[in-house]
Amino acid sequence: MLNLEKSAAAFAEAKELMPGGVNSPVRSYKSVDCNPPFIDHALGDKIYDIDGNEYIDYVGSWGPMVVGHAHPKVVKALQEAATRGTSYGAPTCIESDLAKLVMEVYPSIETIRMVNSGTEATMSALRLARGYTGREKIVKFIGCYHGHSDSLLVNAGSGMATFGVPSSPGVTKGTAQDTISVPYNDEEAITKVMEEVGDEVAAVIVEPVAGNMGLVLPKQGYLKKLRDLTEKHGALLIFDEVMCGFRASLGGAQAAYGITPDLTCLGKIIGGGLPVAAYGGRKDIMAKVSPSGPVYQAGTLSGNPLAMTAGLATLQIITAEPEYGKADYSRELTLKTKKLLLGWQEKAKAAGVAIQAHQAGSMFGIFFSEKDVLNYEDSCNADQEKFKVWFKAMLEQGIYLAPSQFETLFMSGAHTDEDIDRTIAAAEKAFAAVAAMGK
Ligand SMILES: Cc1ncc(COP(=O)(O)O)c(C=O)c1O
Repeated sequence: MLNLEKSAAAFAEAKELMPGGVNSPVRSYKSVDCNPPFIDHALGDKIYDIDGNEYIDYVGSWGPMVVGHAHPKVVKALQEAATRGTSYGAPTCIESDLAKLVMEVYPSIETIRMVNSGTEATMSALRLARGYTGREKIVKFIGCYHGHSDSLLVNAGSGMATFGVPSSPGVTKGTAQDTISVPYNDEEAITKVMEEVGDEVAAVIVEPVAGNMGLVLPKQGYLKKLRDLTEKHGALLIFDEVMCGFRASLGGAQAAYGITPDLTCLGKIIGGGLPVAAYGGRKDIMAKVSPSGPVYQAGTLSGNPLAMTAGLATLQIITAEPEYGKADYSRELTLKTKKLLLGWQEKAKAAGVAIQAHQAGSMFGIFFSEKDVLNYEDSCNADQEKFKVWFKAMLEQGIYLAPSQFETLFMSGAHTDEDIDRTIAAAEKAFAAVAAMGK
């Protein structure tokens, strides 16, 4: 039995200090009915709690840790940067260095603005879309999560789905009225909405590979349909690649599916574990952002030198690491992920447990479902009780997964073949535990 005594005490104290004991809801483990391990440190592919338990980590801070934790190159760059001061509130060359590297990999981003969180990136991109088009409505997809700004907290997935909240109290009716939500992967539904109100829609925002209703991939041709419809009705297409950027492929979903959005939101990986996100895209649209244009958006810590440094070091590793010269970094991650998922599928089959396994590059996840999962409704219909048993059995064996069916798992460059073999072996026992539920 995993000893989580110190974590339990730390959680009891934290609950007196913070709502639910956490600073972000899913960390509370509420949906899996156990206490969360409190983390002491992390290194490479491993994370260690304050009771001294070691886990193989597939959460990776919810995506950013693509090169593993405390990568020596990132740590060294940060140490050097810290000695030069931690924030100036003034322009620096490292902001341009990071911008150039991001734009090299994402050619649809002709101009970029750095911000501090994915929430800020999507919120600002929407304001920009509204300012640029002079229209007020936005279209989003049910189960897609774009952060916690008011307009986007309507039928959002992720933590809200975990806790069964359709949209948050505190979001005004007026705000919610301007947000139209449509089922993901349903061409007919979005076509109908755009035919009805397309000329009032400022933007259609989508997670092109959806990671917040569990991992759900776009159907063949779906993203092209969104591109065509937005073009036809004069609305902007915003790809929220905060999660799938640098993961679905190095160039994100837009490279993987060959679709050029008007605006892109990035986050997570571009900060290398520090708080960074960005939005960017067509030059004529971005020219409306203050101070070149009238759409206001600002940030005391935006472009923070430490955060830019961690992001730049991380992107340098995944774009140009010499030891990966033979095959690019993201291809290696994709192969490792495939191996792990194949192993899980074999073990599930052997145990007689029906699962749907999804992968997009280094993102992956499974659903306990007989039928494929194509949208939020399917994802809600997957068996959450089985997920709970699976999750706990994996944690017991030192495998650290996201504590919700509505989240996605991530591979990093630090995961080894041995880790993957261990994770597959653990899955055998976990699927056996799931199979035993039905007996
Ligand atoms: C697709 C997507 N967009 C936006 C966000 C919000 O980012 P943040 O949590 O940095 O505000 C997230 C967070 O997980 C996300 O997955």
